[in-house]
Amino acid sequence: MKIASIVGARPQFVKAGPVSRALRRRVREVLIHTGQHYDYEMSQSFFDGLDLPKPDHNLGVGSGSHARQTAAMLMALEPVLHAERPDLALVYGDTNSTLAGALAAAKLGLPVAHVEAGLRCGDRLMPEEQNRMVTDRLATWLFAPTAHAVANLRREGIEAGVHLTGDVMLDALREAAPALEACAASLLAREGVAPGAYYLATIHRAGNTDDPARLEAILRALAALERPVLLPLHPRTREVLGRLAPGAAAGRNGVLELEGHPSAVRLRPPLPYVEMLALQRHAAAILTDSGGIQKEAYLLGVPCVTLREETEWIETVASGWNVLAGCDREAILAATRRPAPTEPRPPVYGDGRAAERIADILCG
Ligand code: UD1
Repeated sequence: MKIASIVGARPQFVKAGPVSRALRRRVREVLIHTGQHYDYEMSQSFFDGLDLPKPDHNLGVGSGSHARQTAAMLMALEPVLHAERPDLALVYGDTNSTLAGALAAAKLGLPVAHVEAGLRCGDRLMPEEQNRMVTDRLATWLFAPTAHAVANLRREGIEAGVHLTGDVMLDALREAAPALEACAASLLAREGVAPGAYYLATIHRAGNTDDPARLEAILRALAALERPVLLPLHPRTREVLGRLAPGAAAGRNGVLELEGHPSAVRLRPPLPYVEMLALQRHAAAILTDSGGIQKEAYLLGVPCVTLREETEWIETVASGWNVLAGCDREAILAATRRPAPTEPRPPVYGDGRAAERIADILCG
């Protein structure tokens, strides 16, 4: 049996780590990298840090508009899948690489398996929501991370092939836990911050980065916080920062300047997986528009403020550990300063053995 796993963007490398290892203990896996993410910090750093196998194919597609990027992936995937003749294609999450992988395989008559099926945030204008919905329609195996994801699929009439496996990001986090602890002290010293005395923020969603008013409102809220804010910048955000947020610029030593005045926001390059986890683990709170980081904050027991109006990970909000603050300055400040929740964190993301379950189901 041969499985073609298709990845392309940073969060997919994290998810593929445990699944790829579980698959390779059972069958032959061919790893295809679309090249959606290509900078060292966005791609190779994860292959090195997560001990992922070198991709058998790198399609080198790179950036572009949604249509161009997705179309380039489809054209490059077809001959590779045709030549490899896998028994099925495995895709992860909700990026353009997910959609292209599912579509290219389905058009060739290959069954599709979707890891992280059933997630919905209710905003059909969001590219990720479009990618999820189409991929779930095409998939034969739908590996849902949570009971809520299973219920979402049922509401859309999808029941066949749905498996509640737990979330593979918990598997990845468990595997990384010793390395996280080992690097934390020196990392915090390098960043000049003490445990619990700083905030960690990420911004990369098109809805935030491509709207100057939203980006500026978020940056001003971060700058108004009383503790240092570490902000590892996605390349998209770095690119639009100066151009789209008037008055905001990366000043000397990576400090964000607003109208020429340095703020407490420290701009950083994209960080390796384990370093990102260590900075999350010791932050007083995390502010983010990432899906995966909302979940990691919950798993690590760190209060989260989500810089969006909706979320796919509603369990984190229901438990009080995550607050949806959008781009509203006052809402962001209030949510960040709230006392740490005392509510329990039920094990909604499973037991850390999702990858083994997925491999068992696929490999029989
Ligand atoms: C993609 C996913 C998103 C995921 C995110 C993780 C889609 C629609 N979105 O968003 O769900 O959360 O990845 O990071 O697939 N760029 C670089 N170097 C890189 C990668 C990107 O400079 O290595 C820049 C390019 O200017 C590019 C922009 O970032 O145009 C956006 O990249 P893209 O792949 O389109 O989407 P992401 O914002 O990364």
